[in-house]
Amino acid sequence: MINADRLKKNWSLVAAHGEQVPLYFYSTLFLTHPEVRDMFPMNMAAQRDKLVTALGAAVSNVDTLDRIVPHLQQLGRDHRKFGALREHYPAVGQALMATLEHFSGPHWTPAVASDWAAAYDLVAEVMTDAAEEAAHRTPAWWEAEVVAHDRRDLDTAVITIATAPRLDYLPGQSITLCTNWRPRVWRYYTPANAPRADGTIDLHVRAVDGGQVSTALVSLAQVGDRVRVGPAVGTGLVMRRDAPPRPIVMLAGGTGLAPMKALVEQVAAAPRPVALYWGARSATALYDLDPMRAMAAKYDWLDFVPCADEDLFGHGVPFGSPAELALAHGRCTGAEIYLCGPSGMVEASRRLLVGSGVLDGAIHYESLGE
Ligand code: HEM
Repeated sequence: MINADRLKKNWSLVAAHGEQVPLYFYSTLFLTHPEVRDMFPMNMAAQRDKLVTALGAAVSNVDTLDRIVPHLQQLGRDHRKFGALREHYPAVGQALMATLEHFSGPHWTPAVASDWAAAYDLVAEVMTDAAEEAAHRTPAWWEAEVVAHDRRDLDTAVITIATAPRLDYLPGQSITLCTNWRPRVWRYYTPANAPRADGTIDLHVRAVDGGQVSTALVSLAQVGDRVRVGPAVGTGLVMRRDAPPRPIVMLAGGTGLAPMKALVEQVAAAPRPVALYWGARSATALYDLDPMRAMAAKYDWLDFVPCADEDLFGHGVPFGSPAELALAHGRCTGAEIYLCGPSGMVEASRRLLVGSGVLDGAIHYESLGE
């Protein structure tokens, strides 16, 4: 029996060493297994701790493995795009163990060591089984071509890609994308359309400060360029088919509009009332106003409310955040709420909604890549 409490305690002890932990982990991994170095981005400074944090969290939560199995399966399938095969997992496991031992000091006992090893093997097994099963059906990644590039303003572009073969996903799910400009650096984007007959996917991309992939996609990518795409991931914004038929409120900030458009297209197959609030700091950043207004004109069950904190150039949008306005309009009580945008906006909106009496379980959001 694995003692999960002991693992969690040990993990918080180790994690308290902050950035030292991933630094030690990667140095050990690359020194002992140089053959895996090429799977990782050249410059790892930006997001050093993603894998290690996930490793510690997943493995030390082995007592609730059942709950995270679907997530681990997705992660395992997604890892095929890195070239991760079953034989690489022991290398990562050994580097993890060496890191834990280093930072545990006198707390590293044979019992703790064998618990970590057993827990890691369980997690690795779920991931590799899912990856190997997926290998019978889908490629490790999809080659895609940019078939349209519509730059809406200095920072934002709507980019359409066509994958080969077709990539299946559900409205609200995300994909990862990697460009030749930043090899092996993958970033999440969410399709802005429900799956189409021709398989093309619209992505809303905003070049954020220091965002290597987004900046290249907005300012360098052109029609005809090729990118790589990873499998669909995420469950937070997926609308369950058996969900109760409550009214839907969508709260989007910036390019968080993308999944909402995909979800609206899904609802169009079996319409019910949707109120979509879309906000930005400045009204000039509402890069998709005309297409959204056209969409609202097409669907009489869709109420579209753009909003902003400032409107210097008179776009005629109300002031306020999507959550503030939806609450003020009495839209949130008894509704299913879908929320997407910058992480600060998502957090602030959740707090506001829950503080106003909305049940946490009625708020749907995704937390990939943070
Ligand atoms: C139990 C085992 C493992 C777990 C729980 C795990 C978990 C993760 C997670 C959560 C991420 C971040 C994904 C994202 O947010 O995009 C990640 C990234 C990554 N993983 Fe794993 N992983 C495991 C094993 C492996 C193995 C065996 C390899 C291959 C040697 C590998 C290679 C990578 C690479 C190349 C990245 C991208 C890193 C980056 O972009 O900085 N992982 N892993």
